[in-house]
Formats: sequence, structure tokens, C-alpha cells
Amino acid sequence: MIKARKALKSFSPYVAGRPVSEIRRLYKLSKVVKLASNENPYDPPVKVVKAVTGGAREVNRYPDSNAYELKKKLALKMGVKAENIVVGNGADEIIELLGKAFLETSDRIVVSRHAFIRYRMTADLMNAATKTVNMKNYTHDLAKMANAAGAKDKFIFIANPSNPTGTYNSKKEIEEMFAVLKKRKTQAIPVFDEAYVDFTDAPDYVSAIDYFRRGKKLIILRTFSKTYGMAGLRLGFAVAPAEICAILERIRPPFNTTSLSQEAAIAALDETSYVKTITKKILNEKKRMEKTLSAMGLKYVPSQANFLLINVGYGNKIFTELLKMGVIVRGMAEYELPAYIRVTIGKPAENDFFIKCLKKIKGK
Ligand SMILES: Cc1ncc(COP(=O)(O)O)c(C=O)c1O
Repeated sequence: MIKARKALKSFSPYVAGRPVSEIRRLYKLSKVVKLASNENPYDPPVKVVKAVTGGAREVNRYPDSNAYELKKKLALKMGVKAENIVVGNGADEIIELLGKAFLETSDRIVVSRHAFIRYRMTADLMNAATKTVNMKNYTHDLAKMANAAGAKDKFIFIANPSNPTGTYNSKKEIEEMFAVLKKRKTQAIPVFDEAYVDFTDAPDYVSAIDYFRRGKKLIILRTFSKTYGMAGLRLGFAVAPAEICAILERIRPPFNTTSLSQEAAIAALDETSYVKTITKKILNEKKRMEKTLSAMGLKYVPSQANFLLINVGYGNKIFTELLKMGVIVRGMAEYELPAYIRVTIGKPAENDFFIKCLKKIKGK
């Protein structure tokens, strides 16, 4: 038998949200709703659908390996140069590329307990270490994370807003972190994963892009999987210092994004009113869900994203019971949050179905 790398002995695969078709088959259900992967539940923008159907005629050709047009448009949107953009097969691929490009076995990354699991996985993949810092009220403790960063640390991963907790870090906290980092003997670069940026409405939330534009050494991750409704197309990107982008470009697979995803992303960037409408609908639904959960006596973590982390007592049990009834959510035991489920905000009827099933389980 051929042996896998030693580092992979204890490497656990990512547990993805279960697909609707699988649950239909498994439990012989006709109605199944998926509130498990923080996707946009609405149809993608019309221009995206047109770009994909139009582009289908040219899939006999390889895509533009350098994604020239898309990078140009992204650079304009983000107020940076094209040399500061790397596109990937989802933001997820870029997280992995950061590990492959920069992590030696003697290196370490800093993450929070309950952080998005893909950060730790990229370190595990490279047999590098992970320093885990406790959260404060389900929120990244940025000062503590910065204080934990030492000579071995290459990256500090900060999802802002955070998945699966939904919490955010304020401008003040970010600036305090920069102040701490300045005093530390570390080369660690903060990676701000802003997958959920479009759902934020807290007045003291800021994207890290302004700091980047002002010359701070940091990396920002964004995705087309959420508000742009393109999760199935797999398109994410990083804004990073040019020397970091050049290294990521050197090691990425030559055709890591497809011609269809590139065309769709170019079209999506014009859809500002779509993004506004979708965000508004989802935020309204989130408010309605919060009220309903409170009325049921359930506690949830205040969220700046398109999902809620809900304390149901025993998350993985409720997850399984919901699954049998045709509602796919996520149990949070793997995130060391065994009392919780994470539920994506869906369309009103989907949310109602979830509540109806949860009430049945809870006997309310
Ligand atoms: C915090 C965070 N970062 C990155 C991703 C990955 O996004 P993508 O679909 O672009 O790979 C997700 C997906 O849920 C996420 O929650």
C-alpha cells in the first residue's frame, strides 16, 4: 500500500453541509430545505445566469489562467492594483494556498477557538502548528491573538464577521491589534477573512481594506459565494501585498478558476442593486428569526452574518432530528460548541419550516 504523508495521519476532512438530494434519498422525503452552508437562498443575479449560459459555448477552451479582466475589475472595486489580487477556487482555495506557499513545519498560525476550521486545516496539511486563543463572548479576542503571535507565527486568521459565531470585531479592536503587533517580535500577517462583509450593519464595523490601502501589511479574503449567489461556481479572491500575490500565483494550479466563474464574477460586480436587495431581505428575515427564537425561549449569539448560532441544549442531537424532518442545519460539536446548531437564514418559507420542525422537536 502506498503511504500518505505522515502529516495526514491525524488530518480530518472538512465536514460540508449535507446536500438536499442526499437527505431526500436517505430519509425518503419530498420536502428538504438546506440552511447549512450560509449560501444565498435566492436565484443568482440575472447577469450571472446570462454570463454562464453565454459562456457555455466556449468551454472547449481553457480559461484565462491569469484572469486578467476579472482582476482588473476587482482591483477597481477594491481600490488596489491588479498585482494585489489573487483569484481562487473559492476563498477556500486561497486559505489552502497560503499554507502551501508559506508554512514550514516549524511555523505556526494563530486562530481563535471556534474559528472557521479551514485555517487550522491548512496548517495541519503542512504539518505546521496552530496556536488557539480563547474567544471573548464568542468574538475573536484580537489583542490576545496579537499578543500570542511570536517568532514562529506566519498568519493570524480573523474572520470578520466570524463563522460559525457570527460575531464581529470593531474598528477599535482592529486598531488595538495593530498597536500590539507593532510591539511584538513577529512577522505574523493578519488575514482578514471578510466572506460575510456584505451582511454587516454594525456602525463600528470596518473592512480591513482601508488599512491595506494605507499601506498596512495584511491580507483580505472575499468570496462570490454569499451575497453574489455564486457558491456553486467557486470564486473567491485575496487582496494582498504584491510580493505575497506573486508567490501564491507561482504555486496555484494554472486553471484554478473556470472561464464560467470568471465571466460570472465580472458580471456580478455590476449587480450592486441585487446585492443591496438580497442583503436587506436576509437581514429582515434574520430579525424575524431572532424574535421567534426569543419567543421560544432560545438563546442565540448576535450575528453580523447571514446565519445564527443557536443554543438548543444538545446541538448534534437536534441536528439529526431536524435532518430526519427535512431541515439541514449544522451541528457545532466539531467547533467545540456542542450545545449549538448553526442555521443559515433562508427564504421566509424555509425559515418557517425550520421553526415549525424545531418547535415539534422541542414539544412547543
Ligand atoms: C469565513 C469563511 N471563509 C471562507 C469561506 C469559503 O468561501 P468560498 O465559498 O469562497 O470558498 C467560508 C464559507 O462558508 C467562510 O465561512
